[in-house]
Amino acid sequence: MQRIFITVVIVLLCIAGASAQSSNKLVAASAARGKTVYLQRCMVCHQADGGGVPKLNAPLDGSSAVNSTNLAKLVKYIVKGFNDRVEIDGEFYENAMPAAADLTDQQIADVLTFIRSNWSNKAGPVTALQVKQTRSKLK
Ligand code: HEC
Repeated sequence: MQRIFITVVIVLLCIAGASAQSSNKLVAASAARGKTVYLQRCMVCHQADGGGVPKLNAPLDGSSAVNSTNLAKLVKYIVKGFNDRVEIDGEFYENAMPAAADLTDQQIADVLTFIRSNWSNKAGPVTALQVKQTRSKLK
């Protein structure tokens, strides 16, 4: 009886481990695609190290918005652009961020997954479904 119980527990642990591993792989693949989007569309302003340009372009590395759970705000910046010149983590930035509304839900999820997990950032991944849901509510 005890042996059956132990076997069942081991099998369940293996299944849990395997599914965690495959979801980690999906996240890694998304971040890798997001890096390509970043290099093509974001790096010119936010720089390879995510540090931005003082007084011009906000840094993404260490940004509280990038690391926050408010995904709606992040999706909106990309789809609508961002030129509010509001204080961001204690600084103002003069440049205007252009809208990138041509990016697909998947590309936006990928680039957000990349910037949220790169440099010193340690926030969770974003899925295409989450982007789709917040995007459909944008005015
Ligand atoms: C032409 C330069 C430029 C490009 C290209 C650009 N950005 Fe920006 N980004 C900015 C500026 C400037 C701000 C701050 C805007 C403000 O203060 O009104 C900003 C702000 C942000 C923020 C908010 C940061 C915070 O801490 O609140 C995020 C997130 C962001 N950009 C992500 C991206 C991503 C992802 C891309 C590529 C798809 C991108 N940006 C492309 C210039 C740019």
